[in-house]
Amino acid sequence: MRDQAEALRMKMLQAQGNLAKSIAIVSGKGGVGKSNFTTNFAHSLRLKGKKVIVVDMDIGMGNIHILLGVAPKYSLKDYLTGQQTLENIINTDELGLTFISGGSGLDSVLDWSESMFERLLAAFEQLQKEYDFILFDMGAGATQRSIELIIAVDEVIVISTTEPTSITDAYSMMKFICLKDPEKKFNIVSNRVTKHDDGNDAVTRLQYAMRKFLDKETSILGFLPEDAAVHKAVVAQKPFLLLFPNAPISKRMTAIADEFVIVDRNKEKDETGFLKKLKGIFLKGRE
Ligand SMILES: Nc1ncnc2c1ncn2[C@@H]1O[C@H](COP(=O)(O)OP(=O)(O)O)[C@@H](O)[C@H]1O
Ligand SMILES: [Mg+2]
Repeated sequence: MRDQAEALRMKMLQAQGNLAKSIAIVSGKGGVGKSNFTTNFAHSLRLKGKKVIVVDMDIGMGNIHILLGVAPKYSLKDYLTGQQTLENIINTDELGLTFISGGSGLDSVLDWSESMFERLLAAFEQLQKEYDFILFDMGAGATQRSIELIIAVDEVIVISTTEPTSITDAYSMMKFICLKDPEKKFNIVSNRVTKHDDGNDAVTRLQYAMRKFLDKETSILGFLPEDAAVHKAVVAQKPFLLLFPNAPISKRMTAIADEFVIVDRNKEKDETGFLKKLKGIFLKGRE
């Protein structure tokens, strides 16, 4: 009962716009650009004045800290195993973006236990009160725990390249999540689009498949071009958005963040899905 009251309180806070929106960045197959999307998307939201934290869920094989050029002392694992406080595992890159590292090195491969998941939830509850957006870079592979986290978040951003294999895998991933949570909001981003591709072609096909086979509407956030700036930025260990602000990919990323924030703001004016559902239940009781 107490848990229910707390959950309700959290939802009300969220409806008032005081709680972070949690977003999982996922893909079907790996290596499609999730981590680079996450760090640069986070920075573009930050540049719009939003409070953002990135959580690298690729535990033991994380690379967010590498992309941001920071050598963190502690990682998420140190918190989950009770070795460190949440405050101690929060890092800031030189530009002011906060993040939690997934840690690297085989020694930090994680065997999830119940208590770790409880600590993760406690951290999540805390972070929700302090940030506008929590971005989870979901790493490779769908473990039980990562699926549970994806089910819990408010929205999912699916990254796919234009290759048929990537599109098929992205569809399978969305289908899997959708069957577990039919209400989930999906945003699709097409990455590494070349001038030979039609920028929206791949994502439109994904959107169509979701509608046709799962009766599920998804939104297209936009596409990111294939751009040599990404590789250069990875080598320099700095976000391309800040290293090459005039690169085509940086301009597109800013447009994607603009779109995301505008849609988000419009939704805040509206009621959240949760409140709508709750109202529906109350009204039903009165009929
Ligand atoms: N838009 C892009 N243009 C050019 N190269 C890209 C682009 N997106 C990703 N890459 C390349 O793909 C690599 C893998 O990206 P990464 O973000 O680590 O993928 P993931 O997190 O999905 O495994 C990058 O290091 C970069 O070389
Ligand atoms: Mg990655």
